[in-house]
Amino acid sequence: MTEKMQKAMNQQLNRELYSAYLYLAMSAYFENHNLSGFAHWMRVQAREEEAHAMKFYRHLVERGGRVVLSAIESPPKDWKSPLAVFQQALEHEQKVTKMIHDLLNLARAGKDHAADAFLQWFVKEQVEEEFSTNEIVQKLNWIGESAGGLLLLDHELSKRKVEKGADEEEKE
Ligand code: FEO
Repeated sequence: MTEKMQKAMNQQLNRELYSAYLYLAMSAYFENHNLSGFAHWMRVQAREEEAHAMKFYRHLVERGGRVVLSAIESPPKDWKSPLAVFQQALEHEQKVTKMIHDLLNLARAGKDHAADAFLQWFVKEQVEEEFSTNEIVQKLNWIGESAGGLLLLDHELSKRKVEKGADEEEKE
């Protein structure tokens, strides 16, 4: 693995941990507003991001690269509404998608087939991440100022399960 690819993967590992931090901050926002279903959804999301970070960690280790952990940026702590939270989550996922695509372009430019194959999983995952976040943005748009609608969605989001294997990625 080239130095350049190692650096890029370590940066992505950091961004995945930042994603976990961002969603944990969003979860805390919802806890403070007594929306426990939304808080739960965000906590599950944060755990998935930790699993994503661990996939990069494992890939670096398995390729004989170095894992270099850098400081994780502080996430915001307040938003003006649940809609604003999910709009930011969607924008964040769109940025992450671009980062994954840039990484894949780097792998292809360097003919790094192992990294190319590894990154394919993330390309598909990002389609899913953007879809599920956007769906909630659209629902919140429909709900508008309706407290009843918000509580109904809160109940729906409380049912989210941790993705199978999300806690076991490091063992793969
Ligand atoms: Fe790790 Fe939400 O992308």
